[in-house]
Amino acid sequence: MSKVTFYPSGKSGDVPEKKSLLEAAQFLGVPLPHECGGFASCSTCRVVVIEGHENLTGIEFEEEDMMDLAALLPPHRLACQAKILGDVTVQIPGESKAIKP
Ligand code: FES
Repeated sequence: MSKVTFYPSGKSGDVPEKKSLLEAAQFLGVPLPHECGGFASCSTCRVVVIEGHENLTGIEFEEEDMMDLAALLPPHRLACQAKILGDVTVQIPGESKAIKP
């Protein structure tokens, strides 16, 4: 289990490893947009990683492609793609608009 914390709510809890940040948010009852359903094609699930970058899986092609379209750079991640490997703290930005490719 890894401790995952979401700001601005400050809600945190233990989440099984290998779950995505989106799954962690749902597990902890933290509202997080996910317009495409978790398929790396909308960017509404974007978060900013505050601590624990090294405790997330790396950015793969689909996530990198969507982040390019949405003009996002690390420390942003797409919560549906970043899988948890250890303790992580993230911020949910105020606005998460869908990108229509
Ligand atoms: S839910 Fe659409 S990119 Fe993550």
